[in-house]
Amino acid sequence: MKKIFSIAIIAIAMIACSKKTDQQPVQDTNVMKEEPTAQPATGAAAGGANEGLTLIEGADCLGCHKVDAKLVGPSYQDVANKYTVADTDKLVDKIINGGKGSWGEIPMTPHTGMSKENAKKMVEYILSLKK
Ligand code: HEC
Repeated sequence: MKKIFSIAIIAIAMIACSKKTDQQPVQDTNVMKEEPTAQPATGAAAGGANEGLTLIEGADCLGCHKVDAKLVGPSYQDVANKYTVADTDKLVDKIINGGKGSWGEIPMTPHTGMSKENAKKMVEYILSLKK
């Protein structure tokens, strides 16, 4: 009797374990990350823009910038409305080297360790917020 009981418990434990691993496929977390960013960006720019948001979230940007409200720096929507894709190089330079004067006397801190490619993806994302 005891034997059957413990075999049953082991069997239940095994089923429970295998269910757990079934429920956490790696894909699920990817889907969740991409869903909220898929909306504002459209067309060919979508890939770079989505990456840009991920990069911005991983850097210190959000300590000074919000999407829809001024913080220390201008909101990203204000930046997007002021510039076009033609200004990408200027904005990339501002992210990497910092500076002031476009929005006031508060300077933006430089991010000298950042690659041009990553800064460009961030700019793509910011410009995709244009209204
Ligand atoms: C210490 C606060 C701070 C941080 C951190 C910061 N910014 Fe800024 N940012 C500013 C300020 C202040 C300005 C306005 C500068 C000016 O007037 O030229 C600005 C301006 C900008 C602009 C517009 C530039 C222009 O010339 O109009 C962009 C684009 C930008 N930031 C992107 C970013 C990104 C991307 C990051 C993260 C890598 C970031 N910022 C991190 C404070 C910050």
